[in-house]
Amino acid sequence: MWWKPFRQLEGFQLIWVDLAADGRSELEAASWLNEAELLRSKLFREKHSRRRFVLCRAALRILLCDRLKCDNRQLAFGYGDHGKPFALIAGHEVAVRFNVSHSGEHGLIVIGEGNQLGVDIEMRCPRRPLTAIGDRVFGVRERRALASVPAARKADCFYRFWTFKEALLKGRGTGFSLSPAEFETPAAMIDGAGRGYFNFPDWPEERWSLADLGQADFAAALAWRNE
Ligand SMILES: CC(C)(COP(=O)(O)OP(=O)(O)OC[C@H]1O[C@@H](n2cnc3c(N)ncnc32)[C@H](O)[C@@H]1OP(=O)(O)O)[C@@H](O)C(=O)NCCC(=O)NCCS
Repeated sequence: MWWKPFRQLEGFQLIWVDLAADGRSELEAASWLNEAELLRSKLFREKHSRRRFVLCRAALRILLCDRLKCDNRQLAFGYGDHGKPFALIAGHEVAVRFNVSHSGEHGLIVIGEGNQLGVDIEMRCPRRPLTAIGDRVFGVRERRALASVPAARKADCFYRFWTFKEALLKGRGTGFSLSPAEFETPAAMIDGAGRGYFNFPDWPEERWSLADLGQADFAAALAWRNE
């Protein structure tokens, strides 16, 4: 298989997807996709973009069919206003929630019951102009923390904060239609903690939890709305 269990956290199932998988896996993965998904996969210009969609979507289908005890043909996906996918069986939204992220050779899927979920994974790429990007997407406290880390740890710090923000935005379902500069991630996590609580400034009554899932070869984070 081209995926394997990554972690269990607060009852959420996290799965790592191998996006460097061989052509045979991609062929098998494609056989799980429905007509609309196959059509979408053919519209990707870059081979790598097609591969990551096919491998992640097929893994998601297999995991959801197992969890929901349904046949792959019964399973479909609906999309929120900003494109966040959710699962449908016979046209009805199911209580099982999920979110998917991919970057370079790594995919990450989270599946859980009830809570809104957001996940982000990023391969660290030190050659990007990280400080300049950080100035546009981070808040004051995050920028100060990024400026204070030594050059050798800049990329780690940047991608750590970046995955925190994107996991929260994906949990909420807005993606970058809401500016990441409009909020700061939990102060304790900026200072190095692995877990924290968070409220969006324009949605103070909803509390979110955030966990740092970073590893040596990638940065990653999971956000979930506290029910
Ligand atoms: C969501 C978003 C941040 C993802 O960016 P990305 O660089 O592709 O990041 P990731 O690899 O982490 O995530 C991609 C996955 O997130 C999921 N996703 C897509 N839109 C999402 C959203 N609004 N919220 C949460 N998850 C979303 C999908 O499963 C997607 O993978 P798939 O297309 O292979 O199924 C970005 O697409 C975005 O900002 N979208 C919203 C902007 C908008 O309003 N677009 C209108 C489209 S209808």
